[in-house]
Amino acid sequence: ARTVTRTDTGAVSVGGLDVRALAEEFGTPAYVLDESDFRARCRAWHQAFGGEADVFYAGKAFLSRAVVRWLHEEGLNLDVCSAGELATALAAGMPAERIALHGNNKSTEEIRRAVEAGVGRIVLDSFQEIVRVAHIAERLGKRQRVQIRVTVGVEAHTHEFIATAHEDQKFGIALAGGQAAEAVRRALKLDGLELIGIHSHIGSQIFDMAGFEVSARRVVQLLADIRDEHGVELPEIDLGGGLGIAYTSDDDPREPHEIAASLTSIVTRECQAAGLAVPRISVEPGRAIVGPTAFTLYEVGTVKVLEGLRTYVSVDGGMSDNIRTALYDAEYSVSLVSRASDAEPMLVRVVGKHCESGDIVVRDAFLPADVAPGDLIAVPATGAYCRSMASNYNHALRPPVVAVNDGTARVIVRRETEEDLMRLDVG
Ligand code: LLP
Repeated sequence: ARTVTRTDTGAVSVGGLDVRALAEEFGTPAYVLDESDFRARCRAWHQAFGGEADVFYAGKAFLSRAVVRWLHEEGLNLDVCSAGELATALAAGMPAERIALHGNNKSTEEIRRAVEAGVGRIVLDSFQEIVRVAHIAERLGKRQRVQIRVTVGVEAHTHEFIATAHEDQKFGIALAGGQAAEAVRRALKLDGLELIGIHSHIGSQIFDMAGFEVSARRVVQLLADIRDEHGVELPEIDLGGGLGIAYTSDDDPREPHEIAASLTSIVTRECQAAGLAVPRISVEPGRAIVGPTAFTLYEVGTVKVLEGLRTYVSVDGGMSDNIRTALYDAEYSVSLVSRASDAEPMLVRVVGKHCESGDIVVRDAFLPADVAPGDLIAVPATGAYCRSMASNYNHALRPPVVAVNDGTARVIVRRETEEDLMRLDVG
């Protein structure tokens, strides 16, 4: 969050509010989300792509009705990948034409609801789905705007990209072996579909633009092939999401304007070389928008010192509110936020309260050596893929999301209660 400061008392404040007051009012653990930061990031993406391109926020990173309203107000579009996300988007007033539906195995019901609502695009992910969406649209008397998701043969991760062994994945239709060209052939023949473009998503938490460059080049080549074969120039390409954020000080993320400049210049250059009009470009950042805007506030419960070995600091949440460390070996940092401390920094492992040893929140981090039960600690950059991947493991009650803005705090997703658990347990 951008509005984090340390007050005279040594405690941290965010959005003008002392974290001790937030913990008092909303309890811990809690995700604290800086609304002004979220909006600023939306605006930065919107401005970077300058109206020449579209930004589709990837709802899988974190979605709630308030988030949908902020996106709408800031001029962003929304990528959803399930009926649940679609329902949230529509319930919060996102115009259907600004919604894109994704997924490698959309159900017939999901497709029907999306077509009926009039979503701006459905991203087709398989040969079966081309036919399925066409039939549903025809039955509803509609012509659905679609893109075809291709796998371009690039798999990108944080600091590298691999241009081999990429077709071996469940998403999309391979460019290799003429698969994507065949998909285009079939889609163009179906009355229920209006093929508007090609989509490519190469991975997540990426810093190196080289993977996007290869992806853009291959997608533009496909557009040129389509023009040569069918005489049509598809008007749009989508280069997906995946832009990395700083989880620790080692990470060096790109600003939206650098990303926009890089992507548009590659696409423009490749299109000029192929004699194509430059298509409208869209991107789907999730993590890069919401990730840095929130931190998780925990209370320390126990401190176990193993002399000469390690210190375990246990917090009142864990893998149920942040599965990323256990699942991906993700790296995070942590700070003592309820007070100042002059104690020496000490290497600790921050762990949760769940019944397994892999329940680690921050594998290796420094906290002042006097950290003690009752202290509040914060793990930054938990806005993306933490609440959205949270679970009820051990019947944990999923934490609330508290939005802070300019001296006010309000709950946008409330804490679960035991009644919520009981409601589902109908045995
Ligand atoms: N577009 C498509 C088609 C995607 O599959 C994804 C993410 C995005 C956009 C957004 O990517 P982002 O900009 O947020 O990196 N749970 C994992 C990340 C899974 C990403 C899945 N797809 C994590 O916690 O790191």
